[in-house]
Amino acid sequence: MLENYWYIACRARELADRPVPFALFDRPFVLFRDRHGRPGALEDRCAHRNAPLSAGKNCGGLLECPYHGWRYHTDGRAVDIPALPENTAISEQLRVKAYPCVEQDGYVWVCVGDRPTRDRPSSFPHLGDRGWTTFHLKTRFRAPVASCLENFLDCPHATFVHRFWFRAPTAKPVRAIVRSLEDGAVAEYFEEPRENSLVWSLLSQKRARLQHTDRFIAPATSRVDYIFSDRRHYIITSSCTPLSDRETEVYTVITFRFGAIGWLIRLFFEPMSRWIIYQDVKILNQQQQNIDRFGKTAYKLIPPDLLAPYIWKWRQAIATQTPPPSPGQEHHVEMRL
Ligand code: FES
Ligand SMILES: [Fe+2]
Repeated sequence: MLENYWYIACRARELADRPVPFALFDRPFVLFRDRHGRPGALEDRCAHRNAPLSAGKNCGGLLECPYHGWRYHTDGRAVDIPALPENTAISEQLRVKAYPCVEQDGYVWVCVGDRPTRDRPSSFPHLGDRGWTTFHLKTRFRAPVASCLENFLDCPHATFVHRFWFRAPTAKPVRAIVRSLEDGAVAEYFEEPRENSLVWSLLSQKRARLQHTDRFIAPATSRVDYIFSDRRHYIITSSCTPLSDRETEVYTVITFRFGAIGWLIRLFFEPMSRWIIYQDVKILNQQQQNIDRFGKTAYKLIPPDLLAPYIWKWRQAIATQTPPPSPGQEHHVEMRL
């Protein structure tokens, strides 16, 4: 069940005095902070007459419904009902459904399934570590989670969608090894060309050897690592929140090590990353619109679609509660980039 995993609902700083509505799996929820500042997530529907709680307000850490003023605790109980005489005990039945919710790494995470797979979400790599610089992007895609993940972990599209910026087609042979892991799969590339790319001419020394891995972490995370022999290291982690089956909020955390001038690198790296992601938004939008015109997907798979089969199989396995691909498998692929 994909619902049993943790997903980002919003950035922590977006949740202040006002309740924040959010969607997950096409279901409406609301976030607010209790009097200690801890976030809580409730179903966005008042137990009384079903008004949206997200249209109400936060009164000293209780969420007040805009219709008759019932106030809710983050555990979902109604703790104040203005129409009842003072000192009336409030029935335990008068509650809305509450969900596990934590603040971590600058995000508010929720799990809206009945059986969370873990107590907490996993952390982003090297976030806040000494010598590392980080920036965050939030991007709305009109495409399902699987299409987004496939895109983030797919090298061949970059020479077309991100031509010049990120890669240019060189038609050079590249070897890749794909390995299945306990929690997904990873692809490692060898002899990867870096010619004719603005990004790599700015971010790495010409002679520095490159180690590049693309990793899928089930069910909704991608992680791309570029490690250079001159110790520069870039990690792009994207955590996908399924708003519905065709809309995804992608939270991208870009963390990198670039000596003492990391902050300076960020000045151009950040707008450039935004531009590259915008190019992906555009192509995924076109792809999804076209799939909708035909009413279904009809994909063909080739070996250079390295991680797509793992993304599909894993997500299918979780959704149908069947075993995912077993770890420890490995295969080699010859391709051109
Ligand atoms: S609908 Fe919420 S208090 Fe009546
Ligand atoms: Fe892309």
